[in-house]
Amino acid sequence: MNRLEGKRVLLTGTAGGQGEAAQRRFAEEGARIVGCDVQPGAAERTAEVLRAEGYDVTGHTLDLSDADATAAWVEAGAESLGGIDVLYNNGAGYGFSPFEDMTRELWLHVMDVELNIVFNTISPAWKHLKASGAASIINTASMSALRGIAPLGQVAHAAAKAGVVGMTKSLAAEGAEHNIRANAISPGFVKSPATDAAVGPELREFQLGMHLIRRAGVGDDIAHLAVYLASDESAWTTGQNISVDGGVTAGFR
Ligand SMILES: NC(=O)c1ccc[n+]([C@@H]2O[C@H](COP(=O)([O-])OP(=O)(O)OC[C@H]3O[C@@H](n4cnc5c(N)ncnc54)[C@H](O)[C@@H]3O)[C@@H](O)[C@H]2O)c1
Repeated sequence: MNRLEGKRVLLTGTAGGQGEAAQRRFAEEGARIVGCDVQPGAAERTAEVLRAEGYDVTGHTLDLSDADATAAWVEAGAESLGGIDVLYNNGAGYGFSPFEDMTRELWLHVMDVELNIVFNTISPAWKHLKASGAASIINTASMSALRGIAPLGQVAHAAAKAGVVGMTKSLAAEGAEHNIRANAISPGFVKSPATDAAVGPELREFQLGMHLIRRAGVGDDIAHLAVYLASDESAWTTGQNISVDGGVTAGFR
């Protein structure tokens, strides 16, 4: 316990799924957290649950695709925490379509809600991360960045998440002289409010059949790695894209 004692954390997408799981794990490890989510009142609600247990967590309603509102959230978060040590870009929207039906409108939407939002937080947070002296950026990518999967209609999603991976490596390179580390996590198929809502039984079976370990991931599977990447235990780990994916990108059986 207390692996994140005193860490000042900004965490996106805390309404449910991986973000809510990470928020709880981080709080239990001693972090102080400012969260956000686009779903009105939802980040406030998950933070309130933790505050009632004595943890230092606040949540805010925010659309990360609004760059100005996101910059204001970063500044307010830095002010209330007294700085930023960890920026965990977990939250993201999505959009899927077979490529031959994909409109330019959908393509641009996916870039905005999966890739541009990561820029929107990191850009205003950079000076605060520099001031930390031991900062960690964690970006959520995907197995889709690493593997073409025709039935998912994921060309735009894959491009955006591959963009997140490339961005992470270059942020690590530019951040190193400022003691800013940057790493990405690439999950496989994870049970979440989004996958519960958007993935029907047939596609779910197909997805699980691709994974060497034939179950959906859960938020804690990802949060365990995120705790490591946020902590000083990972002080020599930067520029990496680490898969937590039940082996889906490793092989098949
Ligand atoms: N669930 C999976 O199978 C899977 C697989 C690979 C990668 N991922 C990635 O993992 C991350 C977490 O997703 P999850 O699995 O918890 O699913 P999720 O979709 O339930 O969680 C994402 C959260 O981000 C929030 N969000 C979306 N757009 C936002 C915006 N513009 N501003 C603020 N908040 C916004 C959502 O409201 C939601 O609470 C995402 O980056 C997702 O792309 C998920």
